[in-house]
Amino acid sequence: SLVSLFDAQPARQEKFTLRHDGLELDYSKNRITGETIELLCNLAKAQNLDARIQALFSGENVNQSENRPALHMALRGSCANTLIVDDQNIDHAINKTLSQIELFCKDFKTAGRYTDIVHIGIGGSDIGPHLVCKSLSHLAQKGIKLHFLSNIDPDALTELFAVIPPEKTLFIVASKSFTTLETLSNAHSIKNWLKERLPSGQNPAEQFCAITGNHSAALDFGISKDMIFDLPDWVGGRFSLWSAVGLPIALYLGFDNFKALLDGAKSADTHFTSTPFEKNIPVIMGLLGIWYRNFWQYSNICVLPYADKLSLFPNFIQQLDMESNGKSVDIHGHKIPYATAPLVFGGVGTIAQHTFFQFLHQGHEIVPCDFIACKKPVFSYGEHHAKLISNVIGQTKALMEGRKNEGEPQRNFEGNRPSNLIWLESLTPYTLGLLIAFYEHKIFVQGAIWNINSFDQFGVELGKELAKNELQKLRTA
Ligand code: F6P
Repeated sequence: SLVSLFDAQPARQEKFTLRHDGLELDYSKNRITGETIELLCNLAKAQNLDARIQALFSGENVNQSENRPALHMALRGSCANTLIVDDQNIDHAINKTLSQIELFCKDFKTAGRYTDIVHIGIGGSDIGPHLVCKSLSHLAQKGIKLHFLSNIDPDALTELFAVIPPEKTLFIVASKSFTTLETLSNAHSIKNWLKERLPSGQNPAEQFCAITGNHSAALDFGISKDMIFDLPDWVGGRFSLWSAVGLPIALYLGFDNFKALLDGAKSADTHFTSTPFEKNIPVIMGLLGIWYRNFWQYSNICVLPYADKLSLFPNFIQQLDMESNGKSVDIHGHKIPYATAPLVFGGVGTIAQHTFFQFLHQGHEIVPCDFIACKKPVFSYGEHHAKLISNVIGQTKALMEGRKNEGEPQRNFEGNRPSNLIWLESLTPYTLGLLIAFYEHKIFVQGAIWNINSFDQFGVELGKELAKNELQKLRTA
């Protein structure tokens, strides 16, 4: 049991804690010994994790089914600046887009034309920038309101229309394909809405910019060439917040904060590529996930930020993990006989304690948890932070220690339930970049060990296609 492991080794917490650049992973409350970690690292070696990491960072076509690399790390300066993809030096392309974003931010500020920004996108073209902007809203530029429009539900659109000033709103259409039903329907409806409200002769498309790989579709929409920000093929949607998809981050939080986010992620990349597996934070996180998924057959994991500002983090990780590794065939297309991505759910602490924690403490399933907390709060207020932190620590202990009550089985806590505790020194653009990139790499590690392609997502296609037929039927009904 975890308790007996702690009793046998009083220094266990320090032994199983890893630190890097303002982030700490305490993984001592897991069902492991030093030998378990050694064996799991051997598994990673046997699965050629080193070579996989090398292939990822050197721009090999790790997305085999779509025949392209996955180079989001290059956006934060973590790949060789000589990398050529599709006959193009990607470093030049990255710097060009970064300069375009910087200039756009300057013009946006000096012109002072807009009070509101609406970011239109879905999935990876929404949740990353949304997470970052919400988490760091205390750093927002004065006088700018930022809105995210994602769903096709007309209620979302109508409620947005009620709060934005037509002439003073900038619209960002973020869609790699520029064909996504939700995003394009919303963008077209907004353009029509705007047309009815702008003085005659004023072109509504002038208030739009696009982040896309499909420039011709954006031009057809009416967006001018200089308002199109390129989203290259080698950046996957769920890894795209570091690219031009981060434009709302740069506009809302300032370009320097966007850069600090990239720098934090770069620091995570350096740690990932240069640290031995035994001391490597995302490798250990990934291996612990494999341990529970494949050796203990636990099918869920729970992500629990104890920081209100990180309330979107579980949703973000849900897409990152389940869209990347929710697969049943290997890189060669062969059906695989072992479990892959777990079901990821979560919520913000302490609120989640009052909703689904019953399940975590006494439910039939054992759910390994990632608790995330900040040593310093963004804002201090009386004892609030101390109370928040006492809860996060209390919960990890309650899960681990349990409490025997044989007389009253309803009050019995079996304990021995594993968790990680991830500490950020404080919540800043830099530490958030670090945290997100560590999770990206954790998920890559698991995909590599399972021998699956973590970078495609064909599972989302069928439902989209059938919805098109259903729409035709509804139109003619
Ligand atoms: O449906 C899933 C998905 O393809 C995600 O992978 C992607 O992030 C999202 O849709 C949006 O796609 P796009 O950026 O092309 O609009």
